[in-house]
Amino acid sequence: MPTKKRILITRHLPPDVLARAARDYDVVQSGSDYVMESGEILAKASGADAILCCLSEKFDAGLISRLPDRVKILATFSVGTDHIDLDAAREHGLRVGNTPDAVTISTAEVAMLLLLGAAHRVSEGVHMLRSRSWPGWEAMQLLGMRLSGKRLGILGLGQIGQAVAKRARSFDMEIHYHSRNRVSQDRELGAVFHDTLDGLLGVSDVLSLHAPSTPQTKYCINRAAIEKLPQGAILVNTARGDLVADEDVIAALKSGRLAAAGLDVFEGEPKIHEGYYALENAFLLPHMGTSTIEARNEMGFAALDNIDAVLAGREPVYPVV
Ligand code: DGY
Repeated sequence: MPTKKRILITRHLPPDVLARAARDYDVVQSGSDYVMESGEILAKASGADAILCCLSEKFDAGLISRLPDRVKILATFSVGTDHIDLDAAREHGLRVGNTPDAVTISTAEVAMLLLLGAAHRVSEGVHMLRSRSWPGWEAMQLLGMRLSGKRLGILGLGQIGQAVAKRARSFDMEIHYHSRNRVSQDRELGAVFHDTLDGLLGVSDVLSLHAPSTPQTKYCINRAAIEKLPQGAILVNTARGDLVADEDVIAALKSGRLAAAGLDVFEGEPKIHEGYYALENAFLLPHMGTSTIEARNEMGFAALDNIDAVLAGREPVYPVV
């Protein structure tokens, strides 16, 4: 029997994903689930043909340059690739693949949850009830904002942005978007394209972020951008934390310039900006956009598909580099 190729899997993954990996490969893993430092990654990657990593491990130029040449692909269990120095991977001849299709539905559902939760002041309601401080029904209690008829601004009308637009349409929201490129009419489905971010901001009663973290998008939602939103707008972020400037968002939530925010991702997570904890109008989740068994299985299978393809001499199914 031919010997199996070896892959390093950096974190614990769903049982069905690990079962398929173990069926097809000699799997190297750690006994428990934690974020591996580069020294351990290098030690465990010796003799490996591929690495299946997560967004928690930073593959910077230093680490990538020291990976054995034998490692042919870095298959990340994520759509985001901001934890990987893609230029260094290109230079090192290391292929990179991600999992775009697998994350779409769950992330769009969580974006809708954040939209609804922020607009309907869900965190405050839950807190009032659980802290036993609910005085009973009152006509003016925790009044939120109805989404129906409001304008939803989507920054980045890729797969997730489109899935959010589809769901928001059924809430009778009017969809606007800004993307690097205008998408085709059959995917736009009547959404209004704005060729500048400023144009989008001006019409966004709710702004939902679906752009990748890049030097161009970093802190694009800062004080100046918030000033362009309608008074009392709502901000939703399921993309990456560093798209927003935390200090500016926190100041706007405090002053009421932003009525509320629904945030699933944070710069420097899990150590999020201290200012968020005290804000009642911040509906916060711990990076749960893809936390469904369906998404996590599909992400794992897509990562393995990428590895299978490259180790068989083909292109990754979802190539990034
Ligand atoms: C991704 O796929 O990049 C998500 O953030 C993982 O939850």
